[in-house]
Amino acid sequence: MDAIVLLKGDHKLVEGLFKEYEKTKDTATPAAKRMLVDKICSELVTHAYIEETIFYPAAREGAPDTKDHVLESVEEHHVMDWLLAELSGLDAADETFDAKTTVLIENVRHHVEEEEKDWFPIVRKALGRNRLVDLGEQMTAAKAKAPASPLALASAKS
Ligand SMILES: [Fe+2]
Ligand SMILES: [Fe+2]
Repeated sequence: MDAIVLLKGDHKLVEGLFKEYEKTKDTATPAAKRMLVDKICSELVTHAYIEETIFYPAAREGAPDTKDHVLESVEEHHVMDWLLAELSGLDAADETFDAKTTVLIENVRHHVEEEEKDWFPIVRKALGRNRLVDLGEQMTAAKAKAPASPLALASAKS
């Protein structure tokens, strides 16, 4: 599958989980919120892992114009990593849990919009279909190697 189609599919899946959180946060039990946020965390960590290890380096190499966008994206992942780490150690019944999750959602939405609107189109143009399909295959395979902890991502240390 084309790398950008794959990444946009991940974005869509996570957006669905965000909407579910927003719809249920006032009525769900802490245990249900815990499960949903853990699912969001694992999807986001896997996604960030394949971007950081495969897609972002390929973008910088094949589309050098995207360098600043990529660097900014890694910093946005960095903020996400620490929010996810805090959320994983936080009681879902804590009064700050919804606030922290809401800030996570706002941050990721902003990040996804920049990827999809500002610089993925530049990468698509520069890399071409065959290279994107090749990267998509590499990323699909790499998902199995993603870490469980957000703090194990390279961006956590950037
Ligand atoms: Fe990203
Ligand atoms: Fe992304």
